[in-house]
Amino acid sequence: MTRHVHLRFAMAFGGHTIRPMSSRITKAVIPAAGLGTRFLPATKAIPKEMLPVVDRPAIQYVVEEAVEAGLSDVLMITGRNKTTLENHFDRVAEIEALLEARGETEKLDRVRAATNLADVHYLRQGDPLGLGHAVLRAYQHVGHEPFAVLLGDDIMAGGSLLSRMIEVHEATGASVVALQEVDPAMISSYGVAAYDASSSVEDGVPGAGPDTIQITGLVEKPALEDAPSNYAVIGRYLLRPEVFGVLEQTKPGAGGEIQLTDALQVLAANREELGGVVGVVYRGRRFDTGNKLDYIKAIVELAVDDPKLGPALSPWLKQFAASIGE
Ligand code: G1P
Repeated sequence: MTRHVHLRFAMAFGGHTIRPMSSRITKAVIPAAGLGTRFLPATKAIPKEMLPVVDRPAIQYVVEEAVEAGLSDVLMITGRNKTTLENHFDRVAEIEALLEARGETEKLDRVRAATNLADVHYLRQGDPLGLGHAVLRAYQHVGHEPFAVLLGDDIMAGGSLLSRMIEVHEATGASVVALQEVDPAMISSYGVAAYDASSSVEDGVPGAGPDTIQITGLVEKPALEDAPSNYAVIGRYLLRPEVFGVLEQTKPGAGGEIQLTDALQVLAANREELGGVVGVVYRGRRFDTGNKLDYIKAIVELAVDDPKLGPALSPWLKQFAASIGE
């Protein structure tokens, strides 16, 4: 009850302080409580976030991305079966001692990198009521500060999307979501943005710079004919804390789940009181590792990029591609 009142207070109070949210953004929330059913039986005993991509579990790429953008306080919202996740970001004294004794310093550095990367906290989601519910669980940890949400399935290769989103938040005071133009055939798998087309995407929202759009509404997983645009929300968000108060009031939506998209729709529709939502259009590479085909592509592309593996893999890959023809 106390928490309930407090959230409402935060929301009402936030209504008068739209612009300078001067506190530097330091916190990232990573929802990682999904069951990974698309990867069964591989994910029967290990979480999907721990599936390896080249030489690291998928989740490590996401934590590295947060840290690169200056967000070293990471809260993972986990579920059952996630102890391996916690173990991965913790020390393993025996392995470190062994590598040290053998003088295998390069391996030792790589093992330690995962441990020293960030200050990682864990919270269990409890009931799996949807992404919006997972984000609401972060309230106690985040408090009244803007924060980032990174979905554990998405790996963004190259570029500095998150830093750009922080810049846009600082310039506009709005919540910010990452968008990608997707094939219409895929649109119903995403949250989709309606936007104000009065300024061109190239020029962007005044003050926010190129490749930004003012979002006027958001809809979760629309049928193709109902999709307001081809701009899909991809797994990176920078949210004003008012989202917690809105999420508390958000009823289950698409799929019977409490949807983050539905709360963002409220923020977008209440620009004066809640700061609005700006979209940053991302044109870099993104892999949805929750999808088998994209997971395989991520491994191949990132291995080709790897300075040690790439030179040996690329010629083999060309030969193999030629052998299977068109
Ligand atoms: C979630 C969000 C959706 C977003 C997508 C990006 O959906 O609910 O709005 O577009 O992530 O990957 P999910 O993929 O969990 O079904």
